[in-house]
Amino acid sequence: MKTKTLLVASLALFSVATWAATPDEAMNKAGCMACHAKDKKIVGPAFKDIAAKYKGQDVTAKLMEKVRKGGSGNFGPVPMAPNPPDKINDADLKAAVESILKS
Ligand code: HEC
Repeated sequence: MKTKTLLVASLALFSVATWAATPDEAMNKAGCMACHAKDKKIVGPAFKDIAAKYKGQDVTAKLMEKVRKGGSGNFGPVPMAPNPPDKINDADLKAAVESILKS
């Protein structure tokens, strides 16, 4: 367990040093974190609940489209607002969805 935490921490540091934006930074910048958190529901579902719901499914493309267009129904009646490319580009959105699904 400790080893895993250390590994994750060093991977995170590595990606901060290597890439211009990590998925976390991209999501902060795009405003995702106003409605989402990793471990608890805010306006939108917790990332770990999203990961649990789609565990083992290949849903990256589907969820990218949902985040772009917004909408409701999968976690309740509250809709997600659309998130156009000027908020988050395709590459960052893909990385964001992939990291959410690993939460
Ligand atoms: C205005 C608040 C709000 C913002 C901003 C927001 N979300 Fe959401 N998000 C929601 C809500 C509410 C839901 C639940 C929708 C549903 O029930 O289908 C959701 C659902 C999701 C889902 C699961 C979708 C599904 O159909 O299961 C993902 C993935 C997600 N958000 C990612 C993001 C990302 C990435 C961003 C930033 C680019 C973002 N969200 C910004 C409110 C928001």
